[in-house]
Amino acid sequence: MHNAILITGFNGEIGRQTLLALSKKETLIIALDINESDIKYDNVVYIKDSILNKDVMKSIFTDYNIIEVYHFAALLSQSANNNPELAREVNEEGSKLIIRSAMDHGIQHKSFVRIFFPSSIAVYGPRKLQDAKEWDIIKPQTIYGRNKLVIEQFGTQKYEESIQLGYGIDFRCLRFPGIISPYTIPSGGTTDFAPQMLHAACNNEQYTCKVDPSTLLPFLSIKSTIHAILQIMTVPHIQSKLRAFNVEEISLSPEEIAKELQKEFPKFIVDYDIDSKFQSIADTWPENLNCDEAKKEWNFINDCSKNAMFEQYLIPEIKKNYGKY
Ligand code: SER
Repeated sequence: MHNAILITGFNGEIGRQTLLALSKKETLIIALDINESDIKYDNVVYIKDSILNKDVMKSIFTDYNIIEVYHFAALLSQSANNNPELAREVNEEGSKLIIRSAMDHGIQHKSFVRIFFPSSIAVYGPRKLQDAKEWDIIKPQTIYGRNKLVIEQFGTQKYEESIQLGYGIDFRCLRFPGIISPYTIPSGGTTDFAPQMLHAACNNEQYTCKVDPSTLLPFLSIKSTIHAILQIMTVPHIQSKLRAFNVEEISLSPEEIAKELQKEFPKFIVDYDIDSKFQSIADTWPENLNCDEAKKEWNFINDCSKNAMFEQYLIPEIKKNYGKY
């Protein structure tokens, strides 16, 4: 039986770049998504299906010796609010199915299946925190935040059971802030204004932002996102009692992002049409995250300036991506 890595939601913003990084390994990859892939790597078996399909999940764990799982398939915060029942099914039931399948597989093979789960700043609330620590007030105000917290806790519980048994799963999470990618334009999230502004500026489009210009939120570039995922998944043993770690590089408001982009794209115009569906969520998510635990555990580096984020990385990379050099 082949050793293999399972990745779900590989067509999404984080999934695509994670699959690219994983495809450079020698290991076979099983890539599951509800959408067809437009990029083909040689060592990847593509499956177009839902994580809710129990038969598919069963055959993946029967046909391959799954050693690692990267589980990205999910509805983001705005999509979850618009469709709470589907969010519960996909974000909670789908995730539990994967965690249980991995646990059974680990027990059967007398091994630990390492699972990466992307949690979110959405687990924080109800107040907007500054320098939020992992154990700070955790009372998510959104369906999406509650879904994420349920899975953090479920995975941690299954991990603890695995430690008692001597095999099962090794569950690891990062609490992601908003992610800015020069490669994809996300939708369905509350922090999406940041990457959407970047792409609009590069494409000479005007942008209407639904979040107040002064609202601060934490962000991470996609490059550092993938780096952090690969780092947490290679730490041989996590010393901390935590299974979910904060990661951020920089705290930004819409007006600061606009200003950075206007340095390169002086004609870029942003106007504001505040939407309470977005603002009320942004107001319960932290301004910035304390990343001391990740620094301790695997030397996570987060001393990023606006200049390093925009002028040195995002702007040159997006121009390259759109062939604008
Ligand atoms: N970026 C996500 C969202 O806005 C938060 O994890 O929904």
